Amino acid sequence: MYMNIFTALLLPLASVSALPKRAETLIPKSVFDNTANLEQYFTYNYPWGGNTHNGGARMDKDHVKISTPGTLTITAQPVKGQPPAQHGGKNIPINYLSGAVGAKQHFTVPKGGGLSFSGSFQATTTKGTWPAFWLTAVNGWPPEIDMAEWKGSGKISFNTFNTSSVLSWKDVTYSNPGQFHDIRCELRDKNGKDTEVKFWMDGQLQATHVGKDYTGKPFYLVINLQMEGSSGSPGPTTSETFVTHTSIPMNANILARYDIFGEESGGHNIVTDRYIE
Ligand SMILES: *[C@@H]1O[C@H](CO)[C@@H](O)[C@H](O)[C@H]1NC(C)=O
Repeated sequence: MYMNIFTALLLPLASVSALPKRAETLIPKSVFDNTANLEQYFTYNYPWGGNTHNGGARMDKDHVKISTPGTLTITAQPVKGQPPAQHGGKNIPINYLSGAVGAKQHFTVPKGGGLSFSGSFQATTTKGTWPAFWLTAVNGWPPEIDMAEWKGSGKISFNTFNTSSVLSWKDVTYSNPGQFHDIRCELRDKNGKDTEVKFWMDGQLQATHVGKDYTGKPFYLVINLQMEGSSGSPGPTTSETFVTHTSIPMNANILARYDIFGEESGGHNIVTDRYIE
């Protein structure tokens, strides 16, 4: 940053809002232009390791494709004879092969700063399909923010967990699932401890939540097409249905940004000074 000696001396007296914001793009819009770009920013399967989680799909690389430049497509395919997944002390039957990608980097809301995630999604709402664009804790659990998840019900859900039983959630009717919808999620440090989370769909604010003690904690970013589990079962059974309805193509707009706006400002409302693009 350019700063002459006089500015440097004056800075401690200047208000926080006079500080220039700093912003850095963490995942660029070109991330889905080709497989090399995808693999620069994302790993296959879950970013904490493993290819199963809390539903009926086993993830692999073959079900994740850059179908056309700028579009990531994850396809779920029915399968038989797979060993079950183990989650929460239970066996979960695996009835599908599908895909997940996890960002290679971790994302942390710093004190006085924030993160923004945006992407366009075309997501199935068929019963038994459970696509999601979400953040979850690197250490322990929660935090978890479901920036968008579709649980096979015709709705889209936005969730922020304080504990497994105390969460903020909003389910919204999801019209035209055959089209792309813009999702945007903004995380802002609220008070040095808690993080305010705002969810937008197609430019409209859908919900504002507060995540307890989220500031300073690293997140994984995951995009996956889980099956069954919270989206109900049985899921769809024919291959054709999978190709057409259980793919989630996503366009090139996955963008993660980090913004920080000077030091913590002692309760001063810096929301209006912060942000964006
Ligand atoms: C989660 O915790 C934050 C911070 O204490 C609080 O503002 C919010 O209301 C809590 N959410 C729920 C659902 O209780």
